[in-house]
Amino acid sequence: MSFSPQEFRQNFPQLGQRVNDKPLVYFDNGASTLKHLAAINRSHAYNSFEVSNVHRGAHTLSRLGTENYEGARKVVQNFIGAAFDKEIIFTRGTTESINLVASSLSGLLQAGDEIVLSPFEHHSNIVPWQILCEKLGCKMKVLDFNKDINSLADQLKKVINKKTRLVSFLHYSNSFGHRLPVEKMVEICRDNQIMTLIDGAQALLTEKVNVRSLGCDFYCFSGHKLFAPYGIGVLYARHSMLEKMPPYQSGGSMIDRVTFEKTTYADIPQKFEAGTPNVSGALALASALAAIDEDGVHHYHRHVDRLRQQLLNGLREIPTCELYDFHADDYCGVVSFNMKGAHASDVGTLLDKYGVAVRSGHHCCQPLMDLMGIAGTTRASLAPYNTEAEVDFFIETLKKIEEFF
Ligand code: ALA
Repeated sequence: MSFSPQEFRQNFPQLGQRVNDKPLVYFDNGASTLKHLAAINRSHAYNSFEVSNVHRGAHTLSRLGTENYEGARKVVQNFIGAAFDKEIIFTRGTTESINLVASSLSGLLQAGDEIVLSPFEHHSNIVPWQILCEKLGCKMKVLDFNKDINSLADQLKKVINKKTRLVSFLHYSNSFGHRLPVEKMVEICRDNQIMTLIDGAQALLTEKVNVRSLGCDFYCFSGHKLFAPYGIGVLYARHSMLEKMPPYQSGGSMIDRVTFEKTTYADIPQKFEAGTPNVSGALALASALAAIDEDGVHHYHRHVDRLRQQLLNGLREIPTCELYDFHADDYCGVVSFNMKGAHASDVGTLLDKYGVAVRSGHHCCQPLMDLMGIAGTTRASLAPYNTEAEVDFFIETLKKIEEFF
């Protein structure tokens, strides 16, 4: 089967519109992708005809809602190759997934334990660990910044020790797009009985992820970067970990029996899903994932990687354009750059006047920008519905902007 971006675009109604009187060129997919009709329609159908609270109603709609919600969990399980559906916890997104793990591990770690991060992390994979370390007296270590990304694995071997309990790192960088050597990093940790968490927020439109072959303990991602709505995300956690972990939030749904003296908890996954869940979000996410699986992520990646090369070649022709070279085995659709003499946010604002949506700034990676000695970048992040013509337009527009500066 071949992949046609033109046909694929038909699934995204938002692409038909004009912004600032120009056809929208949406290159801000690293922040949020547009929403797939499969997800939009599923959410609309649920909210129009199927609304009912799950897990506790005595009526037909609640029973159907529960079946569909638990069915969505199975779709996610199959999408990432988890061994059991109870290893899938629905959250608000990657940030909440990481917060859940950090909050819950505070019941299992102790003073003196060490947590190791890569230097490329998003704030959401830094701040929860800082808070945990402050609370428990643990130590947070960061691997050295090195543009040779595969060297991270060798460094990791040297940094870990008997006190290291967790290593947490992203799969693909949201700032520069490079892939970390996740397999090697997980293997090193497993050999040393160290837990691993992978932030997969930018990964799942780039490669077919299988958490069982990866062997990580935790894998986190967001629906809104996978053609699905806001407010729904996933924490995959190995069931043996979830069994040991104390609950995150508490209240309804996560209990077995409550008395004023003592509460016993529900089995996993309910133990980690307090309160009424985002049912329509879970159903819409499952529909988006089914659509992705039907197309084949490898088709997306091949197309996006071609566009990325085209974009890089175009940027290299612009004399004032500074690119950031990393040596990695693979990249998602993220391209970051600066234009000499111009502030990244001014470049973003001028692009917007031509209908081009990008993100400018530190991309929630201030420590990484500090290590690189820059305030931020302009970031174009591509999705499978983007086209060669859009990349050409982007480069032509940047050339006009360069003259302006
Ligand atoms: N984490 C998202 C990004 O990289 C918002 O843009």
